[in-house]
Amino acid sequence: MGASRGVIAVFGGGGFIGSHLCQRLIDQGKSVVAVDIDSEKIANLLSEDSFTFHEADITDEENDELCREVIKEADVVFDLIAYANPQQYVDKPLEVVELNLFENLKIVDLCEETDTRLIQFSTCEVYGLLGNRDDIVFSEDSSNLILGPIEDQRWIYSCAKQLLERMVHAHGQENQLQYTIIRPFNFIGPQMDYLVESPDEGTPRVFASFMSALLFDHPMYLVNGGTNRRTFTYIEDAIDAIMLILRNEGGQFDREIVNVGHPNNEVTIEEFANRMRTIYAELSPDGTLPELRTISGEEFYGEGYDDSERRIPDTDKLQSAGWEPRYSLEDLLTESIQYYIDQFESELDVQP
Ligand code: NAD
Ligand code: UGA
Repeated sequence: MGASRGVIAVFGGGGFIGSHLCQRLIDQGKSVVAVDIDSEKIANLLSEDSFTFHEADITDEENDELCREVIKEADVVFDLIAYANPQQYVDKPLEVVELNLFENLKIVDLCEETDTRLIQFSTCEVYGLLGNRDDIVFSEDSSNLILGPIEDQRWIYSCAKQLLERMVHAHGQENQLQYTIIRPFNFIGPQMDYLVESPDEGTPRVFASFMSALLFDHPMYLVNGGTNRRTFTYIEDAIDAIMLILRNEGGQFDREIVNVGHPNNEVTIEEFANRMRTIYAELSPDGTLPELRTISGEEFYGEGYDDSERRIPDTDKLQSAGWEPRYSLEDLLTESIQYYIDQFESELDVQP
């Protein structure tokens, strides 16, 4: 890698993780160039001198030159662009592969061509069904990656991300690409997905889905009884980890795969729903609590849905770099729910 170019590029900078990352980078005095099709979540950054935003669809060939220029001018490229919602994996599997694998590979190629470090977002879903067996703590370099049958279309996302990881790794081995792969474990916080006033408007990921139910009083659906478990990570803890990976002291994350997740925040989805209800009732005593309803995965998402039962990250790599997550499940839910209550109330205030 040559002399410093002074800029960090964030592909997918308008999304949930991207918006928090851009904010933190700017707060730390970095110059940031973000590329996304959407800028709603970063509207507050658009007037910052150190922030440049390109509203561009990376699948449109007309933007290939723009992507090349952005990458060529950057010290580091974060690639967060993907379809990242399980409803999309069963509804439009081909588009998921097209974007999450083939379009992302174009960014990988450009990083290699321009000798630019790549921080590629993958997913904890690459471990797939591993946690349905006895191995529930997942290690980046030794755990197996286990997926279900082809007809269970849900795994297409994981499969595309796994092949992307394998390609990035191979480019590192054969062509000296400098990279780090991040596997996030269920990040939660402000600006996550979107809220739905009624369940017909879409299916955001579980926190946004339950938050919508609490604010708009429609049922909270427990898919297959809510017995599956997740380890939830607060977005601020996640960004702390990502910043350590960016800093890459002594090259400790060079060509590494890194789990980012809070191993102690494991909970069943039923318990998660109940904790949200309790905290919501405390923070918004006038609000009503919606019905909790069990539903099958097929009825909720459609044919081809399957799920992981458990997934807990091994975080040794991050902890040896000094990372300790600060937000317990209670803390992250309180912060996130309060944010949405405030936002909901301020929107009510501006209505005529
Ligand atoms: P997100 O959907 O909020 O962000 C993705 C962004 O990509 C969006 O802003 C979207 O507008 C943008 N995008 C999509 N198609 C585009 C295109 N053709 N051109 C330009 N921009 C486009 O998702 P997120 O939760 O912020 O996730 C970011 C990354 O992290 C994804 O790669 C996802 O797979 C991965 N990930 C996230 C989580 C999590 O907990 N949020 C967990 C595991 C993996
Ligand atoms: C997510 C997505 O695939 C990605 O965002 C990401 O790669 C990864 O996992 C992650 O966030 O680490 P998943 O954890 O299944 O997948 O995402 P959610 O949609 O948030 O679902 C979590 C659990 O809640 C699942 O068991 C799901 O069936 C359940 N659920 C979801 C409900 O019971 N009710 C709902 O309304 C929504």
